[in-house]
Amino acid sequence: MQIVQSIDALRQTLAGRGRPAFVPTMGNLHEGHLSLVRHAREHGDVTVASIFVNRLQFLPHEDFDSYPRTFEADCAALQAQGCDVVFAPKELDLYPQPQTFKVQPNPELADILEGHFRPGFFTGVCTVVMKLFACVFGTTGGGVAVFGKKDYQQLLVIRHMVQQFALPVQIIGMDTERAADGLALSSRNAYLSAEQRTQACALYAQLQWLAGQVQGNGAVPLEQLEAQAVERLSALGWAPDYLSVRQRDDLQRPAAGAAPSPLVVLGAARLGSTRLIDNLEF
Ligand code: PAF
Repeated sequence: MQIVQSIDALRQTLAGRGRPAFVPTMGNLHEGHLSLVRHAREHGDVTVASIFVNRLQFLPHEDFDSYPRTFEADCAALQAQGCDVVFAPKELDLYPQPQTFKVQPNPELADILEGHFRPGFFTGVCTVVMKLFACVFGTTGGGVAVFGKKDYQQLLVIRHMVQQFALPVQIIGMDTERAADGLALSSRNAYLSAEQRTQACALYAQLQWLAGQVQGNGAVPLEQLEAQAVERLSALGWAPDYLSVRQRDDLQRPAAGAAPSPLVVLGAARLGSTRLIDNLEF
């Protein structure tokens, strides 16, 4: 496995090696990331993972400085999965000049849910993903990129970006990896105390409860069921930002009386100072 830092070194490494299958990450890898890498291996000629904690997608009060950085362990884990190339730029390799051009996603998709509570988050994500795609695919004629469905809205925003800019990248979305108790694997789980860890599966449990209520109580307004789910999670000591039922394809609210469309329930809530997100398609 080769580890490269500069964009030039990445392009030289990829020259003549066919179509990359790419997994962008911010490091602190867990089994969720590693399953994306294993999947990527089946979809390209050369498997590339990036490790880069992207300042642009953190709000000033968020955890950019304390975000867990575990580079050595990440590389060992990637090597064990058969990853071929790790692209690990320093901030100045990726942003040698301040990144004044930004990719602005459409507000109907990007200013709701996560984007409402983390303004500018998806601009930061789109800008870095566009740039990473330019680094990985710019000289290889395109390829495949694999993202997890745990960041459901992110996956949709990136699919839109790829489609709107006609990028030669096929996006694959992979199901969320979960611990035995249902907790979605996430780098931010590392912030939980042992006691919080035992309570952390409650977010997913409430998403399951809400999906079950929607399926079983067609007559009750969605807002009412969502408010009940928020109350139930709050009663367990969480501070929920949202628990919301949306249409899978555009994350808009299902129109009352419209033909049933595939749904997803998404949630974000704080347990102590740790903010967790999760979702469930139903
Ligand atoms: O999902 C993540 O880890 C990040 O948002 C991504 C896609 C690597 C961009 O920094």
